[in-house]
Amino acid sequence: MAGMPFITFEGSEGCGKSTQVQLLATHLKILGVPFLVTREPGGTAIGESIRELLQFAPQSVGMTPETELLLFEASRSQLVREVIKPALERGECVIADRFFDSTTVYQGAARKLDRKVVRQLNAFAVGDCVPDITFLLDVDLETARSRMQQPRRPDRMEQQTVEFYEQVRDGYQELAKWQRDRIVVIKGWQSPHDIEKEIWETLVKRFPELAAKSEIENRKSKM
Ligand code: TMP
Repeated sequence: MAGMPFITFEGSEGCGKSTQVQLLATHLKILGVPFLVTREPGGTAIGESIRELLQFAPQSVGMTPETELLLFEASRSQLVREVIKPALERGECVIADRFFDSTTVYQGAARKLDRKVVRQLNAFAVGDCVPDITFLLDVDLETARSRMQQPRRPDRMEQQTVEFYEQVRDGYQELAKWQRDRIVVIKGWQSPHDIEKEIWETLVKRFPELAAKSEIENRKSKM
């Protein structure tokens, strides 16, 4: 790998990935490693409009699975070219809260759209911009549900059946078996601190550049 890694976080709603994204970002900031955090759908002006359409817009009630798939891919193709690739080219580490594995699982495994089409659209949207490592936070349904019980109104994607979320979990586990080199499965029911530690230890083992870069940046800041 040349340059800084492209790191993605995946898992069902309530798995704790957004907390880990923030913890990793804070860690990198303290170490002085340049980084960029992004999320899907969204992360660009076009992507945030698509997010609104996918999750909250009243006209999204009758959205077909095919339209949903294309909107997620549209948001992603904009994000890759406008934000992720330029950041990696500037030598920044990119941390993404969801990426193409979400489409493989939610639209492929759970919505049951043609997996070959999903694979082709994913490839078209990302080009050669593929994550170096993906952390999959695996939690059982009950844990996820209890974490999702917030005062806010659930968005359209959060109003699915229990069966749907079971398919999401199974879909992620199956994908992780096929992509062992890239996807690291983390027990999401551990404490946030233990998860953070496991993630960081995995990262420095796999990307010694991260630790090296942080030493260089620290030395520079002391000069
Ligand atoms: P979240 O980022 O708060 O988890 O919300 C994103 C929602 O969108 C979540 O329900 C998962 C769903 N999603 C898909 O169904 N397919 C995708 O490709 C992506 C990125 C998200």
